[in-house]
Amino acid sequence: MTDDHLPTRHDVDSRGTDPAGGHGGSGGHGIDWDERYSVDEQLWSGEPNGSLVAEVAGLEPGTALDVGCGEGADAIWLAGLGWRVTAIDVADVALERARHAARQAGVEVEWQRTGLLDAVFPPHGFDLVSAQYPALLHTGTQGAERALLAAVAPGGHLVVVHHADIDEEVAKAHGFDPADYVSVADVSALLDDDWAIVADERRPRHVHAGAGAGHTHDLVLHATRVR
Ligand SMILES: C[S@@+](CC[C@H](N)C(=O)[O-])C[C@H]1O[C@@H](n2cnc3c(N)ncnc32)[C@H](O)[C@@H]1O
Repeated sequence: MTDDHLPTRHDVDSRGTDPAGGHGGSGGHGIDWDERYSVDEQLWSGEPNGSLVAEVAGLEPGTALDVGCGEGADAIWLAGLGWRVTAIDVADVALERARHAARQAGVEVEWQRTGLLDAVFPPHGFDLVSAQYPALLHTGTQGAERALLAAVAPGGHLVVVHHADIDEEVAKAHGFDPADYVSVADVSALLDDDWAIVADERRPRHVHAGAGAGHTHDLVLHATRVR
């Protein structure tokens, strides 16, 4: 497999924090996502992520938050189904592409350039919170994991997807340690009696275009907040 869907990292000190400051301690540290996006005119496939489609297709549209929306394919797909979508990312380059794609698709999305921990969300939360391969760094206090959970409204859905079978040695050779990043298991470990698990599994992924095409399986967490 390739690790093209993964970030490359630089300027990260031994505590995993960014000496130059970051985006609220949840993933902006040391990774220049604008630089990553700038290597190509389009980084990802332009299609919504299959695991998100599988989990969400049958749901009644409401409000949705897309965390780490990248070039916007998921947010645009959701908006096309009638979801009222807020989409956040730290990369201006990606958001500019997302805005353009949304205009082309004729849908409205509220795009926000912000890191997850810096974001200000409505207190009542979202009916759907989606984080697809979101590259959120550990904070030491489970800040990113808790922020994802806190953003879900009672009765709402949380869908977190990451790559399965990441080759740690290959990733490290590219200056990226997967252990620095919030995993699906990190999020599911915080689910208590307020949550019901809909899916927590490994499943095949079929992506044949874009930088993530080399990854063949996903880890998928879908939980609903019961109260
Ligand atoms: C691997 S990409 C996935 C993009 C998109 N979800 C997709 O599936 O195509 C990870 C994205 O997370 C964004 N990101 C990194 N740290 C973030 C943070 N703290 N808050 C929000 N987005 C972040 C990056 O800019 C990048 O667009």
